[in-house]
Amino acid sequence: MASDLADPVPGINLGRLQALFQAETESFLRARPKSAALLQRAAKVMPDGVPMPWMGWLYDHAPPFVAGGQGCRFTDADGFEYVDFNLADLSNTLGYGDTPVARAVARQAGIGLQSLLPSENAIALSEALSGRTGMPFWQYTLSASAANTEVFRIARALTGQRKVVAFSGAYHGHIDATLVERGPEGQMQPAALGLSPDVARETVSVPFNDLGALRAALAPGDVAAVLTEPALTNSTLVLPDPGFLAEACRLTRAAGALFVLDETHTWQLAYGGMKRPMQLACDLLVLGKGLGSGVALGIYGMTAPLAEGLRAGRDGRRDGQKGIATGGTIHGNPLSTAAALAMLEEVQTEAGYVRISALGARLSDGIDALTRSYSLPWRAFRYGPRSGFCLTPHLPRSYDETLLSMHRGFNAARRVFMANRGIWDAIWSAGPQVGFSHGAEEIDLYLDVAADFLDRVM
Ligand SMILES: Cc1ncc(COP(=O)(O)O)c(C=O)c1O
Repeated sequence: MASDLADPVPGINLGRLQALFQAETESFLRARPKSAALLQRAAKVMPDGVPMPWMGWLYDHAPPFVAGGQGCRFTDADGFEYVDFNLADLSNTLGYGDTPVARAVARQAGIGLQSLLPSENAIALSEALSGRTGMPFWQYTLSASAANTEVFRIARALTGQRKVVAFSGAYHGHIDATLVERGPEGQMQPAALGLSPDVARETVSVPFNDLGALRAALAPGDVAAVLTEPALTNSTLVLPDPGFLAEACRLTRAAGALFVLDETHTWQLAYGGMKRPMQLACDLLVLGKGLGSGVALGIYGMTAPLAEGLRAGRDGRRDGQKGIATGGTIHGNPLSTAAALAMLEEVQTEAGYVRISALGARLSDGIDALTRSYSLPWRAFRYGPRSGFCLTPHLPRSYDETLLSMHRGFNAARRVFMANRGIWDAIWSAGPQVGFSHGAEEIDLYLDVAADFLDRVM
């Protein structure tokens, strides 16, 4: 049973919730013998039977194996179809099958996937990204994690300072520098096994929307970079207070550090990322995941002075000096740049975002109406296409507040109930999001199934 199902959810009948979780999980597993057999076979060659650990522990039941899909729907090995509201945690916002990205990838495959030489794709992509974000220079990796790693190295090399500041509850990838948290005494400590205890000396974690804490973290003058998402997206959804990000950027620069926006997720929420509608300034901007919609890539934009610093570092390296440690054999390859170009030109258009934001409002309005109809004092999370169930009357402003607004057990029960009825809901720390292949029909289906779920647990 999902561990948190022992904790009550205000307004919900806990006994019914637990019984429903149990029955729905059993029925989910019983109906999927082919996935079970694949998992057994897989366990002989991969720990837990999965190629990377998240696939094993993100769900409170054995994962179904995916056979294929079309649009916003995928089918598992046992033939069950799901409408996808998790979007591979925003790394596949476009969907399945014969998409503009699939066609661009096929075209590129026909002429060459890799060369360790520049291709015109990367020029066109950098130009398109500059137009959309205002960041004039770009570099490429193969994941947002690697982009954040390189960004920190550039920041350290060019500021001469050492530490990084990140916000509690944020996730920026599986990189040492940000896999830290505050311990019970307020001290920084590694947030996972396998990290050197020293990582905790390099990073300071402060609460989001707390300028006083940020000022204190910057005061010693040893910070190279402050890294943040425009809104925290990995612990429900925490929006910035008006003016918070502008002042955070000003304070960061005043302390001689670089202000980095990680829009790996939020790029999927607004045209040009949240930087554009909120008119945010930054020194570096990180992208990844959904911009390739299934094809691996990471990208970061930078200001002209930083580009000059990076270039000078490379000149130094050519002359036998140390250069800034960036680069990788297949970074910026023609395949991932072709995929991202297709996303920008054919999918992530202004009209595309207007459409999915309207559907996102339909989903959020529907969740609000649903919880009101059950007199639950809840709110819908909402920003463009992103939605979700906020289990408190007020939207959270910090990570500590998000802990009250979400409930792992409630989410686990809802997820498996919905999976049995053809909806693949978001993982517990996120919220359902509308992708570029969804239509009104899928939103209404989500709301109908969610209503059925609430009916059974009141
Ligand atoms: C905000 C943010 N940044 C960076 C990453 C790392 O992305 P990747 O796992 O593709 O390296 C993630 C992953 O979820 C993320 O949410």
